[in-house]
Amino acid sequence: MVRAAITGVASYVPEKVLTNFDLEKLVDTNDEWIVSRTGIRERHIAAEGEASSDMSVKAVTKLLDETGVKADEIDAIIVATVTPDMMFPSTAALIQDKIGATKAWGYDLSGACSGFLFALKSGSALVQTGHKKVIVIGVDTMSSILDYTDRNTCILFGDGAGAVLLEPTEDENFGVIDDLLFVDGSGGDALYMTAGGSRKPASHETVDARQHYLVQDGRSVFKRASKDMAQVSVDILKKNNFTAEDVGIFIPHQANKRIIDVAAQKAGFTNEQVLLNIDKYGNTTAGTLPIGLDEVVREKRIKDGDLVLFAAFGAGYTWGSILLRYGPSKKG
Ligand code: UT7
Repeated sequence: MVRAAITGVASYVPEKVLTNFDLEKLVDTNDEWIVSRTGIRERHIAAEGEASSDMSVKAVTKLLDETGVKADEIDAIIVATVTPDMMFPSTAALIQDKIGATKAWGYDLSGACSGFLFALKSGSALVQTGHKKVIVIGVDTMSSILDYTDRNTCILFGDGAGAVLLEPTEDENFGVIDDLLFVDGSGGDALYMTAGGSRKPASHETVDARQHYLVQDGRSVFKRASKDMAQVSVDILKKNNFTAEDVGIFIPHQANKRIIDVAAQKAGFTNEQVLLNIDKYGNTTAGTLPIGLDEVVREKRIKDGDLVLFAAFGAGYTWGSILLRYGPSKKG
């Protein structure tokens, strides 16, 4: 059976760093509260005019350089994001043009914090049905939709992009093994952006009412995220007859260290098995999982063939997990 293998990964975060101490000057908050409640110390913020396609192009260019793949060999580009450059054309189309992927088609996908999982599943299906090279990107420019007068939300998020290369393999030591993916739209009122869509098009009134910013009921999301991200991590291992010890690395969505701790504990992982970088980047929404994978590959915390478990929870509600064996990594 043909499986989609992740044969390369790269990421990019903007240069500018916004620390908790910087935020103390903007809203009524403090470093101690943010660190103890979330685990975040700093986050990277896009430069003025730097959009999701720009960050993606930086990550993809690095990915192509390192894997030796040429842009015109790419069959498809899938972009998971809730902060596209604009409503349309798609960010995938903008990236296709900027990198010169002349043979590729592609599209954007809105799955919020679970977006990269949904995109990886989609890319995997394309590979299983004949595509040879698919680029899957998780990217968000959260600073573009944050209200920097709202301490409940502006401290949580950062900007960043990560990209993987998917290629077919028939070797059972590599590739995507299984997924568990969910949507529960009844949670839509816990995390959303009110205006700018067809329900409430942008107008002077919507701007004056600050409706182009993210709104979150943190406690509700926290409760569901802690429960469901832990459960789905346990379930996918059990379904595939693996135990926690079999896993090389657990890469959970980085929204809150306390949510990650619950999932890691429930699934039975040691600290060494868990990727935790929320202190440096905050929550980059669709970016967290590929940025995390890039980090563990670069730090040689995993090697080809190791079992990787991704899990995420986010707006929608959306959540899920994907289990795979990393590699074979391609060196350009
Ligand atoms: O990735 C998408 C999914 N998103 C998530 O998974 C996020 C899930 N939610 C969370 O991570 C947490 O709910 C938060 C970090 C957002 C909030 O933590 P919490 O422990 O749930 O705090 P809370 O919302 O219950 O607020 C506790 C107190 C409140 O004050 P009172 O009402 O007790 O007087 C807040 O007003 O903390 C206050 N507060 C703050 N204080 C200092 C809220 N934000 C801040 C802040 N600095 N930035």
